[in-house]
Amino acid sequence: MTHELYPASDFDRWAVSYDQDVQSGDFPFAGYLQALDTVVKLTESAPAMRVLDVGTGTGNLALKFAALGCRLWCTDFSSLMLEQARSKLPQARFALHDLRQEEWPEGFDVKFDRIVSAYVFHHFDLQEKIRILQNLTRRLVSDGRLVIADIAFPTRQALEETRQRLGDAWEEEEYWLADQSLAALRRAGFSASFIPVSYCAGVFCILQH
Ligand SMILES: C[S@@+](CC[C@H](N)C(=O)[O-])C[C@H]1O[C@@H](n2cnc3c(N)ncnc32)[C@H](O)[C@@H]1O
Repeated sequence: MTHELYPASDFDRWAVSYDQDVQSGDFPFAGYLQALDTVVKLTESAPAMRVLDVGTGTGNLALKFAALGCRLWCTDFSSLMLEQARSKLPQARFALHDLRQEEWPEGFDVKFDRIVSAYVFHHFDLQEKIRILQNLTRRLVSDGRLVIADIAFPTRQALEETRQRLGDAWEEEEYWLADQSLAALRRAGFSASFIPVSYCAGVFCILQH
């Protein structure tokens, strides 16, 4: 049996305290609120647009699109995270779904105007990130946008400097390296840009050529 590095049960345990943790302002959540706001801005969303939030967690990003009058579809593989999100967003559609699966959840077989995500993709290596993004872009309308906020560093050197500076507060995960990731995204046929929002957070805006 393969060992699951980031199992859903870890997120189930985190669900109740998650909203408090993101407010710390410390690594890895330095810039969290700015990152979510940057996603909203880059999507240029309008009321009634169909927005899919993958790895919605407690629904903090989805909530911002609900406030704009968008229609929401939200997925996560942690049932207890989804329970928190449901309580904030009674009007949204939810599905318990692992992003790594090719199979798509029932009731989610529509084309989305926008697909968004925050603080999820650092659980996947670069190859897996690209594979998931390719799967997601197939669910977008032709002029759709995919916008992702996450823990990200401009370069390997910037990551190493932060690792040294943080010492024991550092956690090793599959953080985005913007230069390397943008090159890989472009090789995979995406048009992509990166906006840093703090020393450890940034937003990728991804379009299909
Ligand atoms: C750090 S939280 C981010 C939650 C929310 N998007 C936010 O910005 O606050 C990561 C979320 O991704 C979900 N997640 C992690 N791996 C996943 C996977 N393979 N499939 C679906 N959801 C996943 C976790 O359950 C958790 O809710």
